[in-house]
Amino acid sequence: MHAPQHTRLDAAVAPLVERLATPALFIDLDAVDHNIAAIVGRCGGGQRWRPHVKTIKQAALLERLFAAGVRACKCATLDELRMVLETASSTGTRGVDVLVAYPLHPGALEAAIRLAQVHPSVRVSFLADSPEHARALQGASDGERRWPLFLDVDTGMHRTGTFAARWAAQIRDLAAHLKGFEIVGLHGYEGHLGWDQRAEAAAGYDALCELARRLGDAGVTIAEICTSGSHTYAAALDHAGLAGGPWHHTVSPGTLVLSDRRCGPAIAELGLLQAALVATRVISRDGVRRITVDAGSKAIAPDCPAPTCEVVGWPELFPQTPSEEHLPLDLGGLAPPALGRLLWLVPQHVCTTVNLYRVALLVRDHAVVGESPIASGHHPWLT
Ligand SMILES: Cc1ncc(COP(=O)(O)O)c(C=O)c1O
Repeated sequence: MHAPQHTRLDAAVAPLVERLATPALFIDLDAVDHNIAAIVGRCGGGQRWRPHVKTIKQAALLERLFAAGVRACKCATLDELRMVLETASSTGTRGVDVLVAYPLHPGALEAAIRLAQVHPSVRVSFLADSPEHARALQGASDGERRWPLFLDVDTGMHRTGTFAARWAAQIRDLAAHLKGFEIVGLHGYEGHLGWDQRAEAAAGYDALCELARRLGDAGVTIAEICTSGSHTYAAALDHAGLAGGPWHHTVSPGTLVLSDRRCGPAIAELGLLQAALVATRVISRDGVRRITVDAGSKAIAPDCPAPTCEVVGWPELFPQTPSEEHLPLDLGGLAPPALGRLLWLVPQHVCTTVNLYRVALLVRDHAVVGESPIASGHHPWLT
């Protein structure tokens, strides 16, 4: 990867530009492989990495993780679970281990189990939000085997999970009577914390370690503690208690595979590259101080306030508040790019950007090498 990225992307798109619809999502596979290698290295060979696949949502990118030796991952939706199971089977990858890190309702659990049964070589674990949720799930388990279960611990985000003290108080009764599941792990996601909030993060990790010990005393062996996304993985990897227990500790950054504008500290620590870019065209110019491109809130970072992106190679162009299909850019004194000119945007938040597209175009070196379906959108029926 010696040429600047936008030069390679321009070369890749040149033969296709006449028929390219914009906005379009491009994934730079060289950058993906670079990022995966950097994270695997930081996680000591990848054994401590359980990436969340909600960011990539694409079999082609999961294959890159498998190629780098990553076998564990987590997902939130049943479409993501299906993608993991089918990719493990189609590539013949052994030892794949996926945690459904979302509190499924019993009907969704039944559907997930049906999927998992079609792919018995993949280890599928589920998440219990609370003792009552665990009990509610029992009836939905197929009864044939005991599915691995992680207890979701609320370490301060107050989104899902139950406080450590409540899990500890109820564990003997729960473990003694729980049918269809085996408690194997703790899940504590501290997505409310930023890179520098190490003291707050450590308090949560201490609570997880203490809970794992108390469960051990109660006869429930915790084999894995899974924490942390892209903004706190470093604090978790450096926490002596998590690393030093009888359990296996994993972190689950997913955003870092593609990176985005919000990943600043991780980019600096790991030398990450931006791997997901939106191609957009200039559709309007006022001839004075503004151009508008076709990448509004339905094309890039819909959950973020302005600026929702950065224009590669044009640092002066400043994104204003978008409408659905329009993104006005302040020219910052520049001569405006021509109408129809293609520009490359780096999203502020890549996960919600990828989710807006049905297909991404894959770039390797200077060429588009494939189309990659994305497990985006929601269906009304469980299958
Ligand atoms: C439970 C859980 N784990 C891991 C992650 C991955 O975090 P990130 O997107 O910061 O990589 C998320 C992100 O929302 C999450 O909800």
